[in-house]
Amino acid sequence: AAIYRDGVFGRRPRVPTDPASLEAAAKRKASVRGWAYVAGGAGDGVTMRANRAAFDRWAIVPRVLRDVSRRDLSVELLGRRIPAPVLLAPVGAAELLHPEADRAIAGAAAELGLPYVFSSQACFSMEECAAVMGDAPRWFQLYWSRDEGVVDSFLARAKAAGCEAIVVTLDTTMLGWRPQDLNLGSLPFSRGEGIAQYLSDPRFRELVRERLQAGLSGAASTGRPTLAALRALATMTRKFPGPFLANLRSPEPRAAVETFLDTYSRPSLTWDDIATLRERTDLPVLLKGILHPDDARQAADLGLDGIVVSNHGGRQVDGAVAALDALTDIAPAVADTNLTILFDSGIRTGADVLKALALGADAVLIGRPHVYGLAIDGRRGARDAVANIVAELDLTLGLSGLTGVAEATPEILRRS
Ligand code: FNR
Repeated sequence: AAIYRDGVFGRRPRVPTDPASLEAAAKRKASVRGWAYVAGGAGDGVTMRANRAAFDRWAIVPRVLRDVSRRDLSVELLGRRIPAPVLLAPVGAAELLHPEADRAIAGAAAELGLPYVFSSQACFSMEECAAVMGDAPRWFQLYWSRDEGVVDSFLARAKAAGCEAIVVTLDTTMLGWRPQDLNLGSLPFSRGEGIAQYLSDPRFRELVRERLQAGLSGAASTGRPTLAALRALATMTRKFPGPFLANLRSPEPRAAVETFLDTYSRPSLTWDDIATLRERTDLPVLLKGILHPDDARQAADLGLDGIVVSNHGGRQVDGAVAALDALTDIAPAVADTNLTILFDSGIRTGADVLKALALGADAVLIGRPHVYGLAIDGRRGARDAVANIVAELDLTLGLSGLTGVAEATPEILRRS
């Protein structure tokens, strides 16, 4: 209602209200490097485009005369009621677009009462983000480190920081082929972006110390410091006085980046590792990056709490199935289980959210749009970008003849 009142009285919204204008406004604010990382996808962008196109193949069939004057968007997710079926997706290295990065997004999420999923590759520690959130809901996204001590430490910190669920991202055991970043020759992390979660971790710092004590940074992996690492060190010490260097003294930064690169992820991960999680945390566990019904079933068989049907916004396997198409296969396959089904990759509008809910999602994660909002106007921008999508969802729901999220079933859609 507020945004319409503003419009009537001639005030422009802080962030544009349609996906194309939002993206264009963010691009104007972003550095070339920041834009390549956030807006880019894997390979030729086939999956990124497919994610959007999949939504266009479904049409909402509105019903009329159903008294939609009162609507309730709230849902219960893992035992907690939230005002709308929307979460803010984990995003790493967001300081490429705004210095307040995750901390601004955390504040935005808290204002909206919607859960923010802290990224393993955040630019502020989960404790710093939690500190601006009061008792608003927050979750933690885990990249499974090669060092099991880091895994346990992250799990313990997440619990202590008030996170209410662990989301293990499985589609990024290695970084995808990202031409936009590669062609620029300056990947995120090269200047320390996105490694605050590690730098603030006691176990990780132990690893860095061990590496320093071993004398030669990089010895563990290559026997000598790599040229890339030396360049990274030079750039960081010159250009990166922010959160990264706050509690590190030279020559630690180089060792820290190398330790990060060596340990942040473990491509040898299997279902057996996931099975150990039940003993390692009492928080609900969800698996992110599920695209095959059999993998979804396996998550249910292991007694996990949920999945995030996602192809990482088309950033990992180019040519991978559109996330919405995967959802239409997966939802029926696990309908007889208690699995909570979340969805992301391609959500840009309220209508997109409604379609994903109708096709079986319990809630959705917003990815790039909140980062675009962040680029435009920090915390307020991130908040408004998400609030706009929620507002449009509210209108779309009502104008489709529905008064609650539970009424979003496949019957409201037609394949077109
Ligand atoms: C991501 N994503 C992501 N996912 C994750 O589990 N951990 C992470 O650190 C990141 N980092 C990240 C950075 C940036 C800049 C983007 C755009 C995305 C993926 C994210 O959580 C989500 O799956 C996608 O963004 C959803 O796709 P859309 O909505 O952006 O198309």
